[in-house]
Amino acid sequence: MQDTLEFSKEAINIIECVNNTNENLFITGKAGTGKSTLLKYIQKNDSSIIVLAPTGIAAINVNGETIHSFFKLKPGYEFDEAMHVRINNNMISQYAAIHTIIIDEISMVRADILDAVDIFLQRIRNTSEPFGGIRMIFFGDLFQLPPVILNNEREKFLQKYKTPYFFSAHSFIQKDLFTSPFIQKTLELKTIYRQKDLLFIDILNAVRENKTNDSHLSLLNQQVKTSIEDENSNFQISLVPTNAIANSINFQKLQTLNTSEISFFAHHTGNIENLKPNDFEVKLKIGAQVMFLNNDPKKRWMNGTIGNVTNIASTIDEETNENYQFVEVELENGNITEVLPFTWEISKYRFKRGRFVREEIGTFTQIPIKLAWAITIHKSQGKTFNKVKIDLGTGSFAHGQTYVALSRCKTLSNITLTRPILKSDIIIDEPVIEFIKN
Ligand SMILES: Nc1ncnc2c1ncn2[C@@H]1O[C@H](COP(=O)(O)OP(=O)(O)O)[C@@H](O)[C@H]1O
Ligand SMILES: [Mg+2]
Repeated sequence: MQDTLEFSKEAINIIECVNNTNENLFITGKAGTGKSTLLKYIQKNDSSIIVLAPTGIAAINVNGETIHSFFKLKPGYEFDEAMHVRINNNMISQYAAIHTIIIDEISMVRADILDAVDIFLQRIRNTSEPFGGIRMIFFGDLFQLPPVILNNEREKFLQKYKTPYFFSAHSFIQKDLFTSPFIQKTLELKTIYRQKDLLFIDILNAVRENKTNDSHLSLLNQQVKTSIEDENSNFQISLVPTNAIANSINFQKLQTLNTSEISFFAHHTGNIENLKPNDFEVKLKIGAQVMFLNNDPKKRWMNGTIGNVTNIASTIDEETNENYQFVEVELENGNITEVLPFTWEISKYRFKRGRFVREEIGTFTQIPIKLAWAITIHKSQGKTFNKVKIDLGTGSFAHGQTYVALSRCKTLSNITLTRPILKSDIIIDEPVIEFIKN
């Protein structure tokens, strides 16, 4: 987190509402308005709040745990598990101690997962109150990427739910005219911190709500460059629609380097389940473009910083006498830094002395970088980049996808488009508009 945070009047109002009321809240705001930053601030001041997120990347971003991991839900069987989990006295006293759960990136949380959480908490706390009477605070932007529903489960899903979004969860449906809605207040952060240029912000806002006019699109499409014109491509990351495309770009780029390939292998302690912050084997070559996956304690780089591998060497550790490898990486500011393996402490919520606390369950040691000529737009959500190339290929296919891609970059001039953005690349699900209106 940044050392100097200034809080807008909206942010101060949210902090007061969290501290002084017991209301269930939806805290929203455009990309880069500091939702996750505010969430971390709230958590720091009250460590008894449980912080969760739908994906591993999103959870790491806010020092939280995934919903699946915290509730021990098996993907695909969430509702059954919540219905049938054997409840013992231990669990009853543990879950009695929770007063507030915050979930970040709520736009990616599926309605059925939220219902599983609801049923689980109702059963374990032996009450029919929604979420067992626990206060819920949802953070996120519904104009960003939606929940993932696989093609083979779509039909079954849509028989039970109107939409995949969290707001379609049955737990939110009012039982009769006299029950009040579950979410008592929606509060919005307004100041955008990721971008400064007002013209770019204006274009992003128009893309977000599908209100682009010809002038927005023509300004944006001045960023279309041919591969020859795109000579500025050093330190530029490509944001692409699918994992297959990202993997193939990274593989092909690595193949074109005629330096030798060196593998870095991770080692871990404890049972860290699937909470690994990097791959077990990271293949690098001199010349490879990489992304950092941690915040450097010496502040030379941050999670998401892009660099180029300039050297791979090994040296002897004087204490252990062991040979270890390290990497030299050139950063965009021209500095060359030595990157050593990094040890992540992997933690989970554990019940200790009457409350849930984060406890280390193991460690994971690996070089904190991975190949990053390209990543998926999905994985880029929540991150900030200096220079991006956006290749929507045959077209954007998901709600919010084009907005998430464009809003990752701090400046319009550092975006390269491989082809013009069309009106049809901007997709917005109607139910989201309906929900926002009400
Ligand atoms: N209150 C603030 N003051 C200054 N910078 C901020 C503030 N909140 C967020 N930022 C910066 O803005 C960027 C986006 O913040 P983030 O919390 O990730 O936004 P969101 O979750 O809304 O997309 C980050 O680089 C962050 O450091
Ligand atoms: Mg965020």
